[in-house]
Amino acid sequence: MTGAWSWWIVGLIVFNLGLTFFLFLWAPRAKVPVLPDGTTGHVWAHGVIREGMHRLPAWWIAVSLAMYIAAFAYFILYPGFGDREGTLRWTSAKEHAEATAANAQRLDPVLARLAAKDVDAVGGDAQARRLGERLFVDNCAACHGREGRGNPLVGAPDLADGVWLHGGSAKDITASIRDGRTGVMPPWSALGNTAVKELAQYVLSLSGRPHQGTAAALGAATFKANCVACHGADGKGNPQLGAPNLTDDVWLWGGTQAAIETTIRDGRQGHMPAWSPRLSDADIHILAGYVHHLPQRGALAAR
Ligand code: HEC
Ligand code: HEC
Repeated sequence: MTGAWSWWIVGLIVFNLGLTFFLFLWAPRAKVPVLPDGTTGHVWAHGVIREGMHRLPAWWIAVSLAMYIAAFAYFILYPGFGDREGTLRWTSAKEHAEATAANAQRLDPVLARLAAKDVDAVGGDAQARRLGERLFVDNCAACHGREGRGNPLVGAPDLADGVWLHGGSAKDITASIRDGRTGVMPPWSALGNTAVKELAQYVLSLSGRPHQGTAAALGAATFKANCVACHGADGKGNPQLGAPNLTDDVWLWGGTQAAIETTIRDGRQGHMPAWSPRLSDADIHILAGYVHHLPQRGALAAR
């Protein structure tokens, strides 16, 4: 704060506190003319209300005085009176740093213990799971849902079904979280509406969903010509490209005829942000363990 601003604030505080303190001292002693009936003679609301004269209640005076004392004490102890620091030398930055340090002191031994374990063991550790759940709810649930069951609106996969787009090993999952993932399904509207509808019928047939046989057979040929490079000749996908398995009846973007047609016609692009700059390695390690264990826990819950 520059000197002029500091003096401006000092001036405002002195003026405001001074003026109200003067009123506080003066008001109880002020001589207000009072009529014999105990009113001031002021009449309000066409004579319905007359203004009485009463002493200020003692509690009001006591509370006001306490507030002045608190205000003076505050300006002595804390910053606020211009650029004065206050005798406690308190700053919010210092308080934050102290709280962070106290937190780290409690957390560091736990993180060190978990860092020494591999991802699978972290997933089975009760304390790590509580930390993982908190991290997941704070950072991941917006897209993947609280229980990690995914969201077809943003193409966020179900993380508890045991089906993995980019691989389900501890290493793959850690890489997914640390570096992020992007899956690009190109749009195929150029093939024409009929071809898109036939392809959708073929895709439906791959996972044994109800479909029209003739259209699906026509779609199979188009699939062979355009789709196998990524989804594989058998439609089982390719984790290297993040191309999903189309035969397992697990859907990123929805498995209805309409959803599949939209996917093929317009393309899709699922984006999983990279967390390495935002979360520490220790946090990513805990999250990887948490996510790695979600399918097992999903299976437990289903029993
Ligand atoms: C902005 C939405 C979004 C957020 C937030 C998000 N994800 Fe994702 N995540 C996705 C999408 C979309 C994909 C699928 C990427 C693709 O299509 O290839 C994905 C994929 C993944 C995968 C790979 C799944 C597989 O089947 O291979 C893992 C693991 C994962 N996310 C974990 C997490 C964790 C842990 C967090 C929190 C730290 C998180 N995600 C936060 C959207 C998100
Ligand atoms: C360049 C590689 C590539 C080609 C070629 C490709 N796909 Fe895809 N496809 C993907 C990827 C990657 C995804 C996942 C998108 C995501 O992660 O959001 C995907 C997703 C899909 C989905 C959505 C699956 C789900 O779970 O919701 C369908 C359906 C699909 N593709 C069908 C096709 C068809 C039909 C063709 C051929 C006309 C085709 N794809 C060609 C890469 C490809």
